[in-house]
Amino acid sequence: MDIDALYETAMRMVAPGKGILAADESTGTIKKRFDTIKLESTADSRRDWREMLFRTEPAMSEHISGVILYDETLRQKAKDGTPLAELIANTGAVPGIKVDTGAKPLAGAPGEMITEGLDGLRERLAEYHALGARFAKWRAVINIGAGGDESVPSQYCINTNMHALARYAMLCQEAGIVPIVEPEVIMDGDHDIDRCYEVTEFGLKRLYAELFEQGVVLEGTILKPNMVISGTNCATQASREEVAEMTVQCLTNCVPASVPGIAFLSGGQSDVDATAHLNIMNAGFDLPWPLTFSYGRALQAAPLAAWGGKDEAAGQKAFNHRAKMNGLAALGEWDE
Ligand code: 13P
Repeated sequence: MDIDALYETAMRMVAPGKGILAADESTGTIKKRFDTIKLESTADSRRDWREMLFRTEPAMSEHISGVILYDETLRQKAKDGTPLAELIANTGAVPGIKVDTGAKPLAGAPGEMITEGLDGLRERLAEYHALGARFAKWRAVINIGAGGDESVPSQYCINTNMHALARYAMLCQEAGIVPIVEPEVIMDGDHDIDRCYEVTEFGLKRLYAELFEQGVVLEGTILKPNMVISGTNCATQASREEVAEMTVQCLTNCVPASVPGIAFLSGGQSDVDATAHLNIMNAGFDLPWPLTFSYGRALQAAPLAAWGGKDEAAGQKAFNHRAKMNGLAALGEWDE
């Protein structure tokens, strides 16, 4: 295993003032996004949308360190015939690939999910590496029980998901690919921020135990966590300062300092909240790892609406803006 190469890629992914664009929506999810602008989802419309983003300057060169792609996109070519992965690499960003095959209901555990995709993963990773991918992503989905139901998440759900994340991570490192490990505690629900803290800690403690037990080299990984935040339907919404403070406290308690960097998911937060939370953490705390973004919706919602399927200049203007704001937040220099 070439640990130096993995570490070097990981450090590029969390370079100062830069973060990751998560453009790895599955075909089903991107259809839902396109429905909001009444655009038919076809291989060409998906390509046009993503090519428009990957050609946005100065966003790509200055604020995007890596792009997470979906299988289809890694194989697609721009209109002028350049592979999209090459287009990304030419901006200085690292092409990456989502390799899980989605979260399915966990047998015997109503309301809980398990992420699939380990079968044949070694062979798929070898192909992805040949296609230019240098990092990968696997997302575990952890739900929080409604109405104070403390049985969700179960120990069984946490154990199986974190075990799968570690198996994925080890296969990635063997293939020369940096694994982004993403244990996402879902925001939906009526739980308060304290319950989110408890569940996030429960997941992260098990994750780092599994990564250790399976021999994953932490220096060649990136963590993609949720922030510690109130449930979307919780009557009491914690302030931005509380979210930042509790997220930092939870990560400090759970994530070894040898992890090269942490890149948050946005998870349904508003664009500005996602930027503000990241900024407060970077401005106010002395941390052992760089903290940055790996946003999907919080980077793409505004450009998607502005583009509307046709207006490239408007789409690129909106993407430039959000990329710049999040780049500043990654430095703790954003101002509302
Ligand atoms: P969001 O930022 O929209 O949560 O997407 C990030 C991601 O990659 C989720 O897996």
